[in-house]
Amino acid sequence: MSEPFRGVLIGCGFFAKNHMHGWADAEGAEIVAVCDRDTGKAEAFAREFGIARTYADAAEMFGAETPDFADIATTVESHRPLVELSLAHGATTICQKPFAETFADGKAMVDAAERAGKPLFVHENFRWQLPLIALKEKLAAGVIGNPTYARLAFRHGYDVYANQPYLAKTKQFALMDVGIHLFDAIRFLIGDAADIHCRTQSLKPGIAGEDAFVATLRHDTGVVSTIECSFFSKIVPDPFPQTLAWIEGDAGTLEVTGDYRLRIHKDGALEEIDVEPAVPAWGATPWHAVQDSVAAFERHVVDVLRGNAEPQPSGAHNLETLAMAFAAYRSAETGRTVDIDAFIAEGAR
Ligand SMILES: NC(=O)c1ccc[n+]([C@@H]2O[C@H](COP(=O)([O-])OP(=O)(O)OC[C@H]3O[C@@H](n4cnc5c(N)ncnc54)[C@H](O)[C@@H]3O)[C@@H](O)[C@H]2O)c1
Repeated sequence: MSEPFRGVLIGCGFFAKNHMHGWADAEGAEIVAVCDRDTGKAEAFAREFGIARTYADAAEMFGAETPDFADIATTVESHRPLVELSLAHGATTICQKPFAETFADGKAMVDAAERAGKPLFVHENFRWQLPLIALKEKLAAGVIGNPTYARLAFRHGYDVYANQPYLAKTKQFALMDVGIHLFDAIRFLIGDAADIHCRTQSLKPGIAGEDAFVATLRHDTGVVSTIECSFFSKIVPDPFPQTLAWIEGDAGTLEVTGDYRLRIHKDGALEEIDVEPAVPAWGATPWHAVQDSVAAFERHVVDVLRGNAEPQPSGAHNLETLAMAFAAYRSAETGRTVDIDAFIAEGAR
């Protein structure tokens, strides 16, 4: 395997445009073919990004191409067959979130990666967003001492259904769409959770699943966190797609505000740092923080292909994040707190 690493992309839909721009900017990698079962979409991507070959069928593509990596940007129901196909052809594999519809599917993909001896990533870009990276650096530097409490909130009223109409039809919506991002982010910032309690709400008329939830976690370290999400909040200005954060420690508090400010409350004083990412040349507000994080994640993939890093996060790591979302549904249904290890031991169903 030598640079530039040769990649294929499967799924030329709404979000994959960001993937393609990110790959075009990433040094050391290039996309050599794209695939979508809707040939019009694959051809449009090929024209826009100067890609030589398009395919309607992923198996046909893997028969004709020998990529170093495959970037799977399809919706969740196709993830397991596509990930297994890619790994069977020896490609380092990247799978968009949500990783799987069931814990068993997720585990099967992780097992396939182990058999293939190839890295498997979940495209989990929140932990690659600048405000969350800045928070993590401050925590690691001990700026607020030992964390005691954390809150992550993703509440907004942006019309996500315009670009992603399938979100209105999915029975497991907010927890599977944004909950898993937030659960990965809190694991990144604070560490793993021991248990979870969750309440869900279905607020927008006509949608199939929950569009809001509040989850309370108790972490292995004793930290308590609350994770909140709503797609039905009326807020001016609307903070979409920012994750607001509040982390208290025994020596201070860290805060990420809706205008990309990192505030450090410490020793009776307030310090404020600008953590707003630049708008990529190909990007646009309000999506720039997400777009910047996609490009950062893809540069990380190149680092892993070079042998310089381990996947952040890997499929294996993301299994527990997935289990947290399923445990949150169990909690919302039963009104009980769910012990995450015990839930996984029972198959996380
Ligand atoms: N990480 C993020 O911040 C973020 C943001 C938005 C969406 N997403 C995720 O990205 C994924 C895609 O979302 P989207 O909104 O772009 O969806 P989309 O429906 O716009 O695009 C998916 C594309 O995949 C194609 N496809 C599906 N199955 C296929 C198969 N077996 N072979 C070839 N092509 C196939 C479809 O024809 C479609 O063009 C979802 O899982 C979503 O949750 C992630």
